[in-house]
Amino acid sequence: MNYTVTFKEAYKGKKIFLTGHTGFKGAWMLAWLHQLGARVKGYALAPYYEKSLYDLIDGEKLCESVIADIRDEERLKKEILDFQPDFIFHFAAQPLVRRSYDEPVYTFGVNVMGTAHVLEAARNLTNFCAVIIITTDKVYENKEQNYHYKETDRLGGHDPYSASKACTEIVASSYRNSFFNPIHFAEHKKTMATARAGNVIGGGDRSMDRIIPDIIKGLEKNETIIIRNPSSVRPWQFVLEPLSGYLLLGSKLYKEPTRYCKAWNFGPDNDDVLTVKEVVEQALQVWGHGNYSTPILAKQPHEAGLLKLDISKTIQKLGWKPKLHSKDAISHTMNWYKKVIKENASAYTIEQIHFYQEL
Ligand SMILES: NC(=O)c1ccc[n+]([C@@H]2O[C@H](COP(=O)([O-])OP(=O)(O)OC[C@H]3O[C@@H](n4cnc5c(N)ncnc54)[C@H](O)[C@@H]3O)[C@@H](O)[C@H]2O)c1
Repeated sequence: MNYTVTFKEAYKGKKIFLTGHTGFKGAWMLAWLHQLGARVKGYALAPYYEKSLYDLIDGEKLCESVIADIRDEERLKKEILDFQPDFIFHFAAQPLVRRSYDEPVYTFGVNVMGTAHVLEAARNLTNFCAVIIITTDKVYENKEQNYHYKETDRLGGHDPYSASKACTEIVASSYRNSFFNPIHFAEHKKTMATARAGNVIGGGDRSMDRIIPDIIKGLEKNETIIIRNPSSVRPWQFVLEPLSGYLLLGSKLYKEPTRYCKAWNFGPDNDDVLTVKEVVEQALQVWGHGNYSTPILAKQPHEAGLLKLDISKTIQKLGWKPKLHSKDAISHTMNWYKKVIKENASAYTIEQIHFYQEL
């Protein structure tokens, strides 16, 4: 599906409040929304890593940027109410499993209360607003079985990050039932959905403990890449895949606010999964050189070994489906890093957006 027309119609000239705009996915979203002609106000902490995508694409010039904490309820509310957005895309989070073991209370504070603050501010808007809350495939109670999780499956979470995102879903669901109930849409004029996506890869990610950033760091320093969990299976997807899903979901909420205000899975085709080791091998092949090793490491915190999503509801009822195989996702990702060594990151980021949008 060529998204160019659909997305321009939905977002050109609209006001979008984007939390987490300085992060990896948020900066891609900002670049895309800017291309579509939307007016974006971002709310997040300053970029955490050197060579962040946000800095490389001069994100500050693409939006009105507010650097503040999502846990600051009053500030967030003021910024949202001043802006009167047509859409809120809530990306801001502490998104790392391993950091969540070190800072569980911070993770719950940002992910759960941060979401409550966004929803509470939205509740205070009097005009129409569509709210899209970004969660993760890790919201499901993971049975570590060969099973594809559906939106109706039980929520859970072993580690604090996964549990915080499952809580985010419960907070969102409570707000929908209590304040944004589709039955009373004419009174409150809010529509809200949650989006659960799998492991996302793409250019510009510099996060700790994620496979592509680990590979890039190893290649930049000419060091052997250490792989922690080589046999873990994940539904890898190119960053523009879930973002296209969020944009499509937003456009549907705008047109039919009471029909799509639900939870949606976004992931690759059900049989398109790769192990971490396969991802590394394919990435190094695209790059042209590099070594990795899979040492037996000292006791590691628990991380889910097997995780697959069922996207059939999203395909049938939302009309979204992935456009790329995970192997293409790896190629596009590694090509981005290769290109931006020599070229302007903004230009190549926009080139990838246009390429994907028109597929
Ligand atoms: N990257 C993935 O593989 C993946 C997979 C599934 C879901 N997600 C979800 O997508 C969203 C974006 O993830 P990402 O990979 O871009 O993460 P990221 O770490 O690159 O970006 C996180 C963003 O949230 C902001 N943020 C963090 N703490 C904040 C605070 N206290 N106050 C205000 N802003 C704060 C950061 O400043 C940044 O802009 C998150 O909700 C994450 O849980 C990511």
